Amino acid sequence: MLIDRYGRIATDLRVSLTDRCNLRCTYCMPEEGLAWLPKPEILTDSEVVRLVRVGVERLGIREVRFTGGEPLLRRGLVDIIAGCAELSPRPELSLTTNAVGLARTAETLARAGLDRVNGSLDTLKADRFEALTHRRRLQDVLDGLAAAEAAGLSPVKVNAVLMRDVNDDEAPDLLGWALENGYELRFIEQMPLDAQHAWQRDEMVTAGDILASLRKVYDLSPQQPEERGSAPAETWLVDGGPAKVGIIASVTRPFCGTCDRTRLTADGQVRTCLFARDESDLRGAMRDGASDEELAERWRIAMAGKAAGHGIDDPGFLQPNRPMSAIGG
Ligand code: GTP
Ligand code: 5AD
Ligand code: SF4
Repeated sequence: MLIDRYGRIATDLRVSLTDRCNLRCTYCMPEEGLAWLPKPEILTDSEVVRLVRVGVERLGIREVRFTGGEPLLRRGLVDIIAGCAELSPRPELSLTTNAVGLARTAETLARAGLDRVNGSLDTLKADRFEALTHRRRLQDVLDGLAAAEAAGLSPVKVNAVLMRDVNDDEAPDLLGWALENGYELRFIEQMPLDAQHAWQRDEMVTAGDILASLRKVYDLSPQQPEERGSAPAETWLVDGGPAKVGIIASVTRPFCGTCDRTRLTADGQVRTCLFARDESDLRGAMRDGASDEELAERWRIAMAGKAAGHGIDDPGFLQPNRPMSAIGG
């Protein structure tokens, strides 16, 4: 079991499979990209599956989410999913992707054992999409999400980040579109995890702003808190339900107290939190010949030191040493 000193138990593992991406969302990375992790430092497919196996067999991991950068850029993704689907007890397997490459891959991923997909989309306007991501790929994303739904990778959830004076007028349109297509839309408050360190608290579009904008068009009633569990999203029923919309208010309404996550970076470091300041090196230990139990013990020790919260509001808060794209969303 992975338990920290506040009694939180991590059962949800998020594995970043690459720090690379084929989009350049302005709130994430600069147009020229970043200094990518060197190939030899990245876990091989079988190393990834081994660490997931250690998590599942020895540490109580029940859900595994693959993230990036953009995980569809990882050549071995299908094999990794298939390897994880053979584990016992079989973990739930999901993917967080920008959906650009999903139209081609959704069916194969589902066949390999993937259960669910969360995609990202911040605007429905092609020109805005290009301004926001520096790529002209809106149609690919729309096709990718539709392919995920058709392949049964549902419920397909869509994450949207709103930015002031960029796309903060689009909340009701995005919700209307999601409802029409049967996707579960969640709005995310932007966090200080951008490579450029440009995030500013007073420019962030807050959960309060998003609710006010949606309520001009929709009637929203809060879901009961007991249904939330450890989910980052708070959900509201739309016009009486069953349709719903979520808001992930990481900054203004943090949910660190119920966090059930542990993370593995593409280069094999355990992170206890998106905002953790230190990491524990499982890759080095594994390549030095550590046994499964030794790896599990390192992981337990790392998690015991997990901080109570992200500390974004603390005086002297410092962004983590890696950007979101190298941690995994
Ligand atoms: P499900 O609800 O199981 O579908 O997944 P999820 O919402 O956890 O996954 P997803 O990868 O779609 O994450 C959505 C967003 O939640 C991320 O982009 C982050 O903004 C936020 N998030 C995920 N994990 C954490 C976390 O550990 N801490 C904080 N503060 N935010 C997180
Ligand atoms: N704050 C909040 N969400 C972010 N994402 C990327 N960077 C940030 C940030 N700084 C989102 C993406 C995607 C998910 C993986 O994380 O839009 O939906
Ligand atoms: Fe790529 Fe995701 Fe970063 Fe956008 S937010 S550039 S899709 S890693």
